[in-house]
Amino acid sequence: MRLFRLIPPVALALCAAACSFSVSDPAPAPTAAPTAAPTPAPTAAPTPEPTPDIQVVDGITYVNGILIANKSYGLPADYAPGVSEEAQAAFDEMAAGAAQDGITLFIASGFRSYDYQAQLYQRYVDRDGKEQADTYSARPGYSEHQTGLAFDLNEVSDAFIGTPEAEWLAAHAQEYGFIIRYPADKVAITGYKYEPWHVRYLGKETAAAVYESGLCLEEYLGIDSVYAD
Ligand code: DAL
Ligand code: ZN
Repeated sequence: MRLFRLIPPVALALCAAACSFSVSDPAPAPTAAPTAAPTPAPTAAPTPEPTPDIQVVDGITYVNGILIANKSYGLPADYAPGVSEEAQAAFDEMAAGAAQDGITLFIASGFRSYDYQAQLYQRYVDRDGKEQADTYSARPGYSEHQTGLAFDLNEVSDAFIGTPEAEWLAAHAQEYGFIIRYPADKVAITGYKYEPWHVRYLGKETAAAVYESGLCLEEYLGIDSVYAD
């Protein structure tokens, strides 16, 4: 009682209100400051470039089973298979399909021998110089036309760009087993300027896969197209 007499009643009341709380309730467990989870170093699993399976049989290169002729992979000078019957049949089917849509397609240039390509290329070199010619004409031994699997259709010039025939081809060629081999946005990869008239036969399944990938054939196969010299 002596203690109460020494402490003023107001102070005692305040203390009772304030102190009873801390005495009767257990102190809340200290909330650990949220430790920011360490940001993991981006270990983005690198998408491995599939290693192309490159086989050379009698001087002819097959990448993942696909015959390739480009600036990196040439053909023997005596390789002269003529137009592939399978590619010709696929073209005939495509031309019939196009005709149903009111589009006329015809082959302006199909198989070209090594010697014929040599003459053609030389003519362009004489006219425009080698550096320029290399942007639109293959050196002998490097033309896809020598494989018998490529066709130039209708108008072999920039006048073909944007025509209904070119638009139809770009939209439907893959349905018949062909791809537009040198697309406008792949010049740096194919090594050739845009050729909306040049189609390459791959068969329906592969052509559709390449088309849907949005890649050019070099990208699709993981190869390049660059002359050694
Ligand atoms: N115009 C294509 C690239 C060729 O000469 O084969
Ligand atoms: Zn061509």
